[in-house]
Amino acid sequence: MQKGTIWLWACISLWMMTGCSHEESSSLDAQLSQLIPDKGRFILPSETDYASIPQSDANPLTREKIELGKLLFFEPIFANEARHSDLKYTFTCSSCHVPESGFRPGRMQGIADGGYGFGLKGEARLKYPYYQPNAIDAQGARPLVTLNVAYVQASMWNGSFGTEGPNAGTEALWGLYDPATATNHKKLGTLENQNIEGLKTHRMLYTREIIEAAGYKDAFDKALPDLPEDQRYSRIGASLAISAYLRQNLTNQAPFQHWLKGNENALSDEEKRGAILFFGKANCVSCHYEKNLGSMRFEALGVDDLYEHGGLNTGPSDRRNMGRGGFTGKAEDMFKFRTPQLYNLADSGPYFHGGSIETLEGVVRYFNTGKKQNSRIPDSQLAPFLRPMGLTDEEVKDLTAFISSGLRDPNLKRYVPERVLSGMCFPNNDKASKIDMDCN
Ligand code: HEC
Ligand code: HEC
Repeated sequence: MQKGTIWLWACISLWMMTGCSHEESSSLDAQLSQLIPDKGRFILPSETDYASIPQSDANPLTREKIELGKLLFFEPIFANEARHSDLKYTFTCSSCHVPESGFRPGRMQGIADGGYGFGLKGEARLKYPYYQPNAIDAQGARPLVTLNVAYVQASMWNGSFGTEGPNAGTEALWGLYDPATATNHKKLGTLENQNIEGLKTHRMLYTREIIEAAGYKDAFDKALPDLPEDQRYSRIGASLAISAYLRQNLTNQAPFQHWLKGNENALSDEEKRGAILFFGKANCVSCHYEKNLGSMRFEALGVDDLYEHGGLNTGPSDRRNMGRGGFTGKAEDMFKFRTPQLYNLADSGPYFHGGSIETLEGVVRYFNTGKKQNSRIPDSQLAPFLRPMGLTDEEVKDLTAFISSGLRDPNLKRYVPERVLSGMCFPNNDKASKIDMDCN
């Protein structure tokens, strides 16, 4: 062949290749659109469009409240009930809900009081040797992600906080097995109620004197002008502000969100093929169907508990291992856990309530194999979904790409303050963390 002819062929085949792959990509868009006829169902609102964010009548969203909550979530000066006085003012909510790790700890289990160190994203936090194991603040389950929680009607893995949805008619259970759940009677909202208890559990006390001394009185007054003072300067006021802040932590800049809003280039072909599996053949959407791609469905997927994977301060008799059954006491609810949201999971394994699978690809492979991990869970409890799925290696990779990068909002920094009023180092303020984070 002559040089010119070769060039002509090269150009034609290049044109055909790019033309074809363009065609393939737009047919992927068409297939995916067919599986999601109502795209609005999955579009998260803008974090500044307060009116469109689910909220409690008792705690309407305002900018001042959200701004205060954004500080309190990261503020060590309220970590004033540490078990040992030298660890006072060293931890925060974000010790366990670390932004760089998708608002989870960068390690399997979160440690607030009784922990030290941070690493780059929370992975290097350790238990202080002089704390008794049962004195540290570490909970017997993998922390849930605090993103998109506005769409959580009943919070925690067992759905024990909240008065509506699956918890409608459960009044008799509030406080029965777990005294903290009596807070549901306050009826301030799911997160609002839960976080009052959360502040207690995580050893943070708020009083008028403490708030004033910390320099936060003005911010509380601006954020909560209508709340009676005895509630405003207390864990109640702090919880309302923190809950308002959490409600607007939405992952609306994830590629899949851009795709839903019409930008077909936002997802790669691999991610599109994965989404087609998610909403189609693999039918992940049968449980992960709310705006946050979680739901209030409680299911047993047969995974291990945290104590089996090195969890501290937990064990075989931890009620959390029973899932929904630990809240209701009913045999039919045993070992069933709430379907969690799926955004920004890529930045921190391990996965499931017991942190029993290291990677997202591992999670997909677990579902594809369809065999339970935890032999104590009777087959009769297991979700029928847990059976061999027959996905090819290629399909496993596609589905993994969709959940790991297609659902990852790259800009969570907008939910982190530049500094807190005390000027302390956060998420953690202990000596080792300060060195890790280059706080002077
Ligand atoms: C010691 C680690 C730790 C600290 C500190 C911590 N959390 Fe959590 N958080 C967890 C764990 C573990 C869970 C899941 C527990 C469960 O479901 O049994 C959780 C769950 C949550 C949830 C429920 C999310 C959902 O989808 O249901 C919210 C909201 C939350 N935390 C907010 C906070 C706030 C606000 C603070 C500060 C007051 C805080 N957390 C401090 C470990 C922690
Ligand atoms: C039968 C309901 C159901 C179906 C179908 C389902 N899931 Fe889930 N998913 C759950 C529940 C419940 C959990 C939490 C289980 C636990 O930790 O005990 C979960 C957990 C996960 C997690 C771990 C989240 C975390 O925070 O650790 C990922 C990732 C996930 N599912 C992805 C998928 C994918 C991908 C599919 C489709 C192949 C799928 N799920 C299908 C109910 C379901």
